[in-house]
Amino acid sequence: DGPHDGAPTYAGMAKLVPALPLETRCPPFALRRYGGFWLPEAALRRGLPALHAGFAPRRADVLLASYPKSGTTWLKALAFATVRRAVHPPSSIDHPLRRRNPQDCVPFLEFDFDHGDMAELEALPSPRVLATHLPYSLLPDRVVADDGARIVYVCRDPKDALVSSWLFTRKASPSVGVDSDSYSLQEAAELFREGRCFYGPQCRHVLEYWDASRRPFGGGEVLFLRYEEMLRDPAGSLKTMAEFMGCGFSEEEVARGVVDEIVDLCSLEKLKNMEANRDGRRNASGIRSDSFFRKGVAGDWSSHMSPEMGKMLDEAVEEALQGSGFSF
Ligand code: A3P
Repeated sequence: DGPHDGAPTYAGMAKLVPALPLETRCPPFALRRYGGFWLPEAALRRGLPALHAGFAPRRADVLLASYPKSGTTWLKALAFATVRRAVHPPSSIDHPLRRRNPQDCVPFLEFDFDHGDMAELEALPSPRVLATHLPYSLLPDRVVADDGARIVYVCRDPKDALVSSWLFTRKASPSVGVDSDSYSLQEAAELFREGRCFYGPQCRHVLEYWDASRRPFGGGEVLFLRYEEMLRDPAGSLKTMAEFMGCGFSEEEVARGVVDEIVDLCSLEKLKNMEANRDGRRNASGIRSDSFFRKGVAGDWSSHMSPEMGKMLDEAVEEALQGSGFSF
């Protein structure tokens, strides 16, 4: 089930996708297994070939990578506010994050350019901030090459990511015309255990980036962040991120409170209450903007899962991580 020799092409994927293993029990999208991961069909047919054919990374690019529901929206807000702080000071009343959902401030490579027209992407000023849920092994070689992009990855406790994903699916599915009311957490947990979920298996996704983050690179580095650590120390995490992205904060900026301003602007409470993210507004992809913001805490899985379900997932994760040296 791939990846195959050479880059995925439109023609190659059009022929290959219908023959790939199919999973339809995980709403809202049909998933196909490719390269060891369960990916949405549209990303395989169009997003991946478009990316491989037309995306020219620049050394200054920042690519935010994540397994879904691991803190992508927060990472997008923080990276965007940090990289663009000279043009958009975080205190400005018309800051883009006060007017737009963070998802719309940082495009997803495999969704937002799947039409194959990269002109808009080319026109973005450097340093560009982009995002992806793709696993490391499916990124084009030139993205992970020595002169490729800087990659920031965020990982999150699997049980929390699963609960977040299940609740998001139920809330956001109607936006894409799918009713997922009868999709139970038990079903979601069983599919997750088998890795048969959106961009799953999570452990493999995380391990690929974890391994990459530990390799000595000349470029194309990966900064590996944890959602839980970001919650514990948002300012410290932001400073590390800024340094890595090539736009570290000066002492003068720290003294002026710029770091704290960005942390505050990007906090769940602030973003959740922005007009653009309230009252059933939709983001550019047609998804309800408020569905990206919920509780934003560590350990909320226990409010939704039985201890037995938690144990079943812990065992599956332990098995998947065996011998890797990594733990959540
Ligand atoms: P919960 O559902 O557990 O609350 P993603 O952005 O990858 O889709 O992840 C969504 C999760 O990140 C949700 O978790 C959401 O509430 C949380 N989140 C969104 N914005 C956040 C922010 N600014 N700070 C902290 N967590 C945030």
